[in-house]
Amino acid sequence: MSGTWWRGAAIYQVYLRSFADGNGDGIGDLAGLRAKLPYLAELGIDAIWLNPWYLSPMADGGYDVADYRVIEPAFGDLAEAEKYIEQAHALGIRTIIDVVPNHGSDQQVWFQQALAAGPGSPERERFIFRVGRGESGQLPPNDWQSIFNGPAWTRVPDGEWYLHLFAPEQPDFNWRNAEVVREFHDILRFWLDRGVDGIRIDSAAVLIKDLDSVEESYTDHDAVHDIYREWRRITDSYDGRFLVGEMWMPDQERFALYLRPDEMHTAFNFDFLSRPWQADELRASIDLTLATHGPIGAPPTWVLSNHDVTRPVTKYGRPDTSFDHADRRHGMVTDPPLGERRARAAALLAMALPGSVYVYQGEELGLPEVEDLPDDLLQDPIWTRSGRTDRGRDGCRVPLPWSGAEPPFGFGSGTPWLPQPADWKDLTVEAQQADQSSMLALYRDALRIRRTELGDGILTWLDSEPGVLAFVRESGITCVVNLTDAPVDLPPHQSLLLTSAPLDHTRLPPDTTAWLHPSS
Ligand code: NOJ
Repeated sequence: MSGTWWRGAAIYQVYLRSFADGNGDGIGDLAGLRAKLPYLAELGIDAIWLNPWYLSPMADGGYDVADYRVIEPAFGDLAEAEKYIEQAHALGIRTIIDVVPNHGSDQQVWFQQALAAGPGSPERERFIFRVGRGESGQLPPNDWQSIFNGPAWTRVPDGEWYLHLFAPEQPDFNWRNAEVVREFHDILRFWLDRGVDGIRIDSAAVLIKDLDSVEESYTDHDAVHDIYREWRRITDSYDGRFLVGEMWMPDQERFALYLRPDEMHTAFNFDFLSRPWQADELRASIDLTLATHGPIGAPPTWVLSNHDVTRPVTKYGRPDTSFDHADRRHGMVTDPPLGERRARAAALLAMALPGSVYVYQGEELGLPEVEDLPDDLLQDPIWTRSGRTDRGRDGCRVPLPWSGAEPPFGFGSGTPWLPQPADWKDLTVEAQQADQSSMLALYRDALRIRRTELGDGILTWLDSEPGVLAFVRESGITCVVNLTDAPVDLPPHQSLLLTSAPLDHTRLPPDTTAWLHPSS
């Protein structure tokens, strides 16, 4: 594989604690992942992105890191992580890890030292401590709100307040502090030296804050780019490694600045995932994405789901098919067969586009969002911090069903940390492997054709009627998506490569995608 393998890669996201449990404690782990590597090799992916696997009290599912150089014992240890990287490489699968630079855990040694050392100390300078407002400093330094709801400041016993854009257990680092900058350079090298092939950068746009501003001023400050220029230099000093940034930013011009040739190699394209299932919206997103990435030479990425967003099968079955963090539409009525049909069509659309594609574990099984988890089992900090009004993201994090007719569906021998719905028996890997019309079979076929035939050439739109998307790639492979409510004719073609649902005689039914070879 070449040094720029990541430009067109198919990357599978492993949310480790819900993937496969090797030791029977109900939590997925590296032993479970290692045992399932043959499944992923057969699925036909190029790389695995793992959510944070570091030592963590799990206040935010591992995005509260207590030590960036230690593997969480519930997942395994460093020796096993190294073995996993090697074993995956042997199967042709690369590894991308998740680095969380905006914040650590309140259990991290640095934060404990900062608490002990007191106001004005160099230890506190690594975080964002301030005195409060009001006569006795009883009010937070400003009115910023946490992204997980509630105030973004927490007071410590000596009276100072510290900033946390997320949960109080996730204190923000001070990125104007040279020690913080150096520490993360070392962390990057630590893992690149151990053979990881890519780094996903968590919450990448919010590292620099302007605390004097009356507005909430932490997203996308110019100074954040200096951080990633350094990270690029370090990453490029190793062969074939890359960065992928997580930035939720509506302004595509600002977004593109992160992808300049001396910054990140790639970034998640959340615009595509947020759009409703409508031809004009999806086409606008594709055009915007290509126009943003083209001039700077960065490959686009296509993402339909991840551990933070509603599962596509559920989302696309709702009357409103868009996604918005501010309103996750929990419990909105959904039509599962319609959602599944559209999710299949969306997968073939995403996989036909130029650039890299991400597949979140369980997406290939067509798992729905689990919307009826018992209240008391919900673990996402959004649930408690919203005063139990927003159920958060646990519904897309339920442990995978592998085999058998009842929970835990081969996930492991223990009770899974979140309960699986009893009706997932038809969605297990085992059940789908035996079914040529399953979502799993579709993903496998699509990934194979994408890898062997699609090529990395440009996309050209073809004329099509309203509500239909049709484009051809340089390799000649043509993709047609019918988002109308009636069957449409396919363009003349030599052969049909793959469809997301059977044709209606020779016509493409509603909510269906076809890949074809045009007639020459
Ligand atoms: C984005 C991650 O994807 C999400 O799961 C996490 O809660 C926040 N960043 C904070 O780290």
